[in-house]
Amino acid sequence: MDKIKNFHVLDHPLIQHKLTIIRDENCGTREFREVVNEIAELMVYEVSRDMPLEEVEIKTPVSKTTQKRLAGKKVVVAPILRAGIGMVDGVLELIPSAKVGHIGMYRDEETLKPHEYFVKMPDQLEDREIIVVDPMLATGGSAIMAVDALKKRGAKRIKFVCLVAAPEGVEVFAKAHSDVEIYAASLDDCLNEDGYIVPGLGDAGDRLFGTK
Ligand code: URA
Repeated sequence: MDKIKNFHVLDHPLIQHKLTIIRDENCGTREFREVVNEIAELMVYEVSRDMPLEEVEIKTPVSKTTQKRLAGKKVVVAPILRAGIGMVDGVLELIPSAKVGHIGMYRDEETLKPHEYFVKMPDQLEDREIIVVDPMLATGGSAIMAVDALKKRGAKRIKFVCLVAAPEGVEVFAKAHSDVEIYAASLDDCLNEDGYIVPGLGDAGDRLFGTK
């Protein structure tokens, strides 16, 4: 895949190590859930690197001082249902004051196109940084529609964080929303004929929630 300006792989050793744990088909639901959140937490440390700061005057036990704190309205973490929920707690570990908005998509059985069925977001989206989370960026269809849904509601500063991305999905998503920075723990090989990422980790929702 050619270099795409708004796509970033966060290949930190801890992230790669943890990703290998959850890729293994023998990793059970409990461990899968825990490690997905751990990876989300590590990723959001990098993803938040450019968050704006403002100066604030405080008094330490020793003296007055001007220091920095996060500026602006509270961040929003926005999971794409259902699997995105598996990354929310990890993000909240590092940004505990974040608000959580939910984006529900279903796939039309005939057209195979995603449709939005539920979007519940905090107010003043236009003034907030929004971190959309979904473990798998496969065809890119639901990621594109999720960002469409947020922009329709006024969102302007959106980042997308996934664990595993397929080149096919990255290309269409990055082109459809070139203003959205996309972060993945891994860029995998391809999609198979059933729409699964290869080597991937299987169905992220089923593995997180113990369903089949
Ligand atoms: N969604 C998943 O959960 N897994 C894939 O491999 C592709 C889409």
